[in-house]
Amino acid sequence: MTGALTGRRALVTGGASGIGAAIARAFVREGAQATILDRDRRAGEAMVGEYELAFIEADVADTENLRACIAAAGSFDILVNSAGVDQHAFFTATSPPEWRRWLAINLEAVFATTHAVLPAMQAARFGRLINIASEAGRRGSRGGSVYAAAKGGVIAFTKSMALENARYGITANVIAPGPIDTPMLRRAVAAGGERLLEGMKGATLLQRLGTPDEVAAAAVFLASDAAGYITGETLGVSGGMGIGT
Ligand SMILES: NC(=O)c1ccc[n+]([C@@H]2O[C@H](COP(=O)([O-])OP(=O)(O)OC[C@H]3O[C@@H](n4cnc5c(N)ncnc54)[C@H](O)[C@@H]3O)[C@@H](O)[C@H]2O)c1
Repeated sequence: MTGALTGRRALVTGGASGIGAAIARAFVREGAQATILDRDRRAGEAMVGEYELAFIEADVADTENLRACIAAAGSFDILVNSAGVDQHAFFTATSPPEWRRWLAINLEAVFATTHAVLPAMQAARFGRLINIASEAGRRGSRGGSVYAAAKGGVIAFTKSMALENARYGITANVIAPGPIDTPMLRRAVAAGGERLLEGMKGATLLQRLGTPDEVAAAAVFLASDAAGYITGETLGVSGGMGIGT
């Protein structure tokens, strides 16, 4: 696709790294005016130096500030929630402050950004909500229980947004990545070792990691006019992990 998003205004949370950065780059290539929102100032400013996009420095867990930042940035046609943090601990080893933090970033922030952008989308009678969940949200996760619960919540919330907003011309869909080669995954492998990496590849039918660009291609499609009749869906970009090995 070229120019598939010409004139569209897009907000991508977590857009300074990994999947979110690949989506923001792809959106710019397709003609969108992209804004990335991230708590990592250095990485966000580096993106601004390299690509024609705007950067908002914010922590998505700080709901009030998040809403104010988005309101100040104006209206958006496309929202992608990609900001997220993973979990590598059995449930018995997690504390209430830890699980609240994971839920705040991985689930509640999706509520807050959606709440902030929806009124303008409804008024414009057009919108694309795209949330990055995870196959963990469909399958559960050993060592990632709260993460999986948050991502499962994102999937259910997105379906609800599809139901409530179809009449406004707004679609809402989820992308559920499998193991994607990003800084998040590389940090997990650095801590968990080569066996963890082989296990991740082995959990996919295609026996490899995915790339951030492969997720971005799905996001461009879902954001484009070509996906106008698709809503309430969860698209696995996971090398076939969704149907098991
Ligand atoms: N990489 C994978 O294998 C994989 C698999 C399934 C789902 N996902 C999901 O994809 C999304 C992107 O992950 P990634 O692999 O690109 O990770 P990443 O760590 O490379 O990028 C995540 C970005 O989110 C930002 N972020 C994190 N917490 C934030 C906060 N509180 N406020 C603002 N920004 C914040 C980080 O600064 C970073 O720029 C996440 O939602 C993740 O759960 C990733």
